[in-house]
Amino acid sequence: MLVTTKKMLLEAQKNHYAVGAFNVENMEMVQAVIAAAEEMHSPIIIQTTPSTLKYASPELYLANVKALANKAEVPIAIHLDHGNSFELAMQTFRCGYTSIMIDGSQKPFEENIALTSAVVKAAHAANISVEAELGSVGGKEDSLDNGEGGYTDPSKAKEFVERSGCDSLAVAIGTAHGVYKHAPKLDLNRLSAIREVVDIPLVLHGTSGVDDEVVKECVQRGICKVNYATDLRIAYTRGVKEVLAENPDTIDPKKYGARGREYVKQYVMEKMQVVGSAHRI
Ligand code: 13P
Ligand code: ZN
Repeated sequence: MLVTTKKMLLEAQKNHYAVGAFNVENMEMVQAVIAAAEEMHSPIIIQTTPSTLKYASPELYLANVKALANKAEVPIAIHLDHGNSFELAMQTFRCGYTSIMIDGSQKPFEENIALTSAVVKAAHAANISVEAELGSVGGKEDSLDNGEGGYTDPSKAKEFVERSGCDSLAVAIGTAHGVYKHAPKLDLNRLSAIREVVDIPLVLHGTSGVDDEVVKECVQRGICKVNYATDLRIAYTRGVKEVLAENPDTIDPKKYGARGREYVKQYVMEKMQVVGSAHRI
């Protein structure tokens, strides 16, 4: 069934696990992550970035998700990832997305609060939950290049959450989007310090390539949503390349799509065990 992230993440927080949020780009990836959720009896968040929504519309992704979610036993949310404007947040909200991230992390503190609270006000009127970001996750996501990023300041986090009214908070503790050149060193004490002053679910971005044991430690310290994007793209493309290498004359997109889909499903099932969401339903 299609649900919002509100109850899903509060449930995860209460029971000390996290829900995986997986970025999809096409129908096969939607099928893969939902099949993984069904097989693992896990709640799941499916998300799309602004550039993904330029490739195909929110209506198209939502229709794919809905068609499968309506028949699924597990709770499924569809989330705007790194929403970069009030307008896009409202577009996805009106279209029927059940969860929205507004990413004002590149803006000065007061402007981030103003933008986030404007989205919160509109979304909460329809019981749709809002994720915000304070401090910025490094690396490249979409057209945004945050370089080294800037860590979340725990002393600012409490005020930010209270004043913006957001339902979950993305924290910058040393992860980065994209492929890591060196294993990232996460500031786990900072995460605990944020947890001490903020009581809403916390979100880890840039998780592809982060050691599973480190992810588990983050979940223990209060992360309730874990985002994976790059590794799903890699898994899908590996499947496509393999089929085309085995048989360069392949012309049926179903042939390579199916292999890519299978690899994404396997990856997502593994990560559901890492974040602890498997067998919760
Ligand atoms: P990765 O691409 O590094 O997995 O990051 C995912 C993410 O944070 C999506 O918002
Ligand atoms: Zn992210």
